[in-house]
Amino acid sequence: MKILLVASGAREHAIADALSRSPQKPELISVCTTKNPGLKRLSAELHVGSLLDFPWVMDITKKAKPDLAIVGPDDPIGGGLADLLEAAGIPTVAPKKSLARIESSKSFARDLLQKFIPDSVPKYRVFTSYEPKELNKYIAQELQGNYVVKYDALRGGKGVKVSGEHLATIEEGMQYARECIDEGGRVVIEEKLIGVEFSLLSFVSGTQVIDMPAIQDHKRAYAGDTGPNTGGMGTYTDANHSLPFLAASDLARAKEINRLTAQALLKECGEPYRGILYGGFIAVKDGIRVIEYNARFGDPEALNVLPLLSSDLVSICQAITQGTLTEDLVQFEHKATVCKYLTPESYPVSKDQKGAVVSFPPVPKNARLFFGDIAEDEQGILHVGGSRTAGIVGVGTDLAEAEKIAEEFCRQVKGPVRHRADIGTASLIHQRIALMQTIRPR
Ligand code: AMP
Ligand code: GLY
Repeated sequence: MKILLVASGAREHAIADALSRSPQKPELISVCTTKNPGLKRLSAELHVGSLLDFPWVMDITKKAKPDLAIVGPDDPIGGGLADLLEAAGIPTVAPKKSLARIESSKSFARDLLQKFIPDSVPKYRVFTSYEPKELNKYIAQELQGNYVVKYDALRGGKGVKVSGEHLATIEEGMQYARECIDEGGRVVIEEKLIGVEFSLLSFVSGTQVIDMPAIQDHKRAYAGDTGPNTGGMGTYTDANHSLPFLAASDLARAKEINRLTAQALLKECGEPYRGILYGGFIAVKDGIRVIEYNARFGDPEALNVLPLLSSDLVSICQAITQGTLTEDLVQFEHKATVCKYLTPESYPVSKDQKGAVVSFPPVPKNARLFFGDIAEDEQGILHVGGSRTAGIVGVGTDLAEAEKIAEEFCRQVKGPVRHRADIGTASLIHQRIALMQTIRPR
């Protein structure tokens, strides 16, 4: 059993780690943007290059002849790598280009949900040309100045600007909308939702949908949810596979929406979605809404859930590609996890620490260490890159224990790196619960 893993960092290190626990003992052929030390250790071959250089990836694939391919990051999925792999006869865990528009096009995602699950979307409108009067009227009157402007293609998580956070005035919002239209031909303007965000990822094969534990991410760079947005500074899952601020009905509805979305994709695109469907939700006053969909595992979300997977990831991937996915193939331990990302001190503002040396203590039994943007030199010394360095995961019987394990490990890492000490702590979680109580008073 040979598997091709298309990778960019810690998310794929976690995927490789879960694959390596399989009784099928797969041989891994990894293609990655960097010489990731985690993937290097777990792979028979590690090829370094651009994941958008499809002829190069296909060349390696044709030589290696894998039985299965898994594509981790958004760019190659959005660009249609799964179409090429499938055309070459390689069963692939990642949606084809047309289906991946659920992530790569904000307007496709909104229009699809509006058509099939209308009560899951906020008020929105797609503008394909810059009409200042119309735009101003929509933002100021229809949305009463509470709005979000979304660039209509992949932009490394930086295409969304929210009023009151990134956009101080309506003029700034209109200016950004104009930039989006000039660059991408269209822009999505939508209602700003107030509530608490969470994610629900599912394994999907057509209309077969099996969910993972619910997760909360922390996108802001600094403690207390302040500072610029990042790819995600850390995440947690709870032992009951729900989250402390969610009502049972919220989780049930998120699960239902992922199912309905898989069905909608089949109807709209005429072919089955095969891969990971990542629903980004927000619990609001009167239920839940979809913030976005991703067509892949999250980073760091994969770092939380994959260490809990006690069944065989290789069998799950085979079932996804064969259309034989069933509940019994997917089992997660009932434990809590807290992931804290170590990043260079100046991330995401500058890359001043790039190349600096970082060293890790031995990994305790209940912790996991997944390498992100980090390079190992000839002497085996590790150097940080400009992006997120490594995800540290604590696994415990409850959130308090998992948080303590992750935090203690983070504090022992030597080098110019930082992390958010507040992620997974009782005080931050109580803030989320308190916010839900404010927006949903009894
Ligand atoms: P996205 O790339 O669509 O996930 O957007 C990035 C972030 O922008 C989300 O995680 C939210 O924090 C915020 N965001 C996106 N859409 C909305 C919305 N309609 N209301 C409030 N915040 C939003
Ligand atoms: N952690 C957010 C993402 O992977 O998109």
